[in-house]
Order: sequence, then structure tokens, then C-alpha cells
Amino acid sequence: MQFVSRWGVVVAIGLLVFGWGIGLGPLGEEDQPVGAAEPAGPSLEPVVESMHQFMEYVFEPNYKLLRQHLAAEPADKKGWKPIKAASLMLAESGNLLLLRTPEEEGARWNELSVAVRQLSGQLYHTARDRDYPSASKQYRALLQKCNACHQEFAEGKYQLQP
Ligand code: HEC
Repeated sequence: MQFVSRWGVVVAIGLLVFGWGIGLGPLGEEDQPVGAAEPAGPSLEPVVESMHQFMEYVFEPNYKLLRQHLAAEPADKKGWKPIKAASLMLAESGNLLLLRTPEEEGARWNELSVAVRQLSGQLYHTARDRDYPSASKQYRALLQKCNACHQEFAEGKYQLQP
């Protein structure tokens, strides 16, 4: 009897180690929290370090497009196209701001960057629906976030008007 139970223990340990090895155990790869592992591929990195150039050549042209094309209700589908393009560019550029988080007040920077991403993303969807009253409101709300960041991180300069 003692002989059988001793072998039982040996077999149980064997199965446990085997299970662990093929990833069934508590430390199997599938159980790792998402994002815990180091990314194996290339990482995202800013192409220009200068915030000034980034704002001047990525943000400013898209802001000017929105200002121009939202000044009055677009007449047709073609008229909404530049608004869709500019809002999507700004939404994705909100992600790129997160690559440029400064050491001081980083949490606030990220909060405003995410707000820009979300509001521009909403504007993009509204432009697809060709809903001018909502688009105008979202555009103004977006500029408030741009200006809030400029207030806090650019010494209050660049207060943009709709
Ligand atoms: C997370 C912070 C942040 C957000 C959000 C932000 N900016 Fe900026 N922006 C800056 C900083 C910092 C500068 C100043 C860069 C410098 O001159 O060093 C700047 C400068 C600018 C300038 C002046 C560039 C020039 O050539 O003089 C423009 C235009 C601009 N931003 C547009 C925008 C627009 C449009 C948005 C919103 C859609 C926006 N920014 C959102 C941080 C931000």
C-alpha cells in the first residue's frame, strides 16, 4: 500500500512538471499579463526631438485645415474630406505626444494628450456622419485642450482661436 502511494506521488509530481513545461502551469506564457514582456520588435521613437518642429509641421497644418473647412458647413461629401483627414491626423498625433512626455508634470501632459486624441477621434467620426453642429462643438472643445497644454507647457503662448 505504502509502495503504491509513493509511486502515486512520483507520478503526480511528474505530471505537474510536465504540465508546467507545456504551459499549463500557473506560470504558463498565456497567463502573463498583457504587456508584461519586453517588446521583441522595434520600438516607437520620435523622429524629431524638437517640440517646436513637431507642433509646427504636424499639428499646425491640420489645425489650419480644420479652421478653414469648419468655418461654414461643408456643402457635400467632398467638403468633409479635409475635415476627416485633419481630425484623424490630430487624433493619431495625440498618440505621438505620448512619446514626448516631459519629466516634470508628465501625468498632466499625458492627460491632455489623451484628451486631444479622444476629441479629435470623436470629430473624425462626426465628420464621417456629416453632422456640422456637433463637429463645430467638438472642434472648439479640442482647441481648449490644445490651449490648456500651451498654457501649462509653453508659457501661455499659442492660444489658438477657432
Ligand atoms: C501635451 C501638450 C500639447 C498639446 C496637447 C498640444 N500642444 Fe501644441 N505645443 C505644445 C508645446 C510644448 C509647444 C511649444 C513648442 C516650442 O516652441 O517649444 C506647442 C506649440 C504649438 C504651436 C506653435 C508652433 C509654432 O510654429 O509656433 C502650434 C501651432 C500648436 N502647438 C498647435 C497645437 C494644436 C492645434 C493642438 C491641438 C490639436 C496642440 N498644439 C496640442 C504642446 C502641446
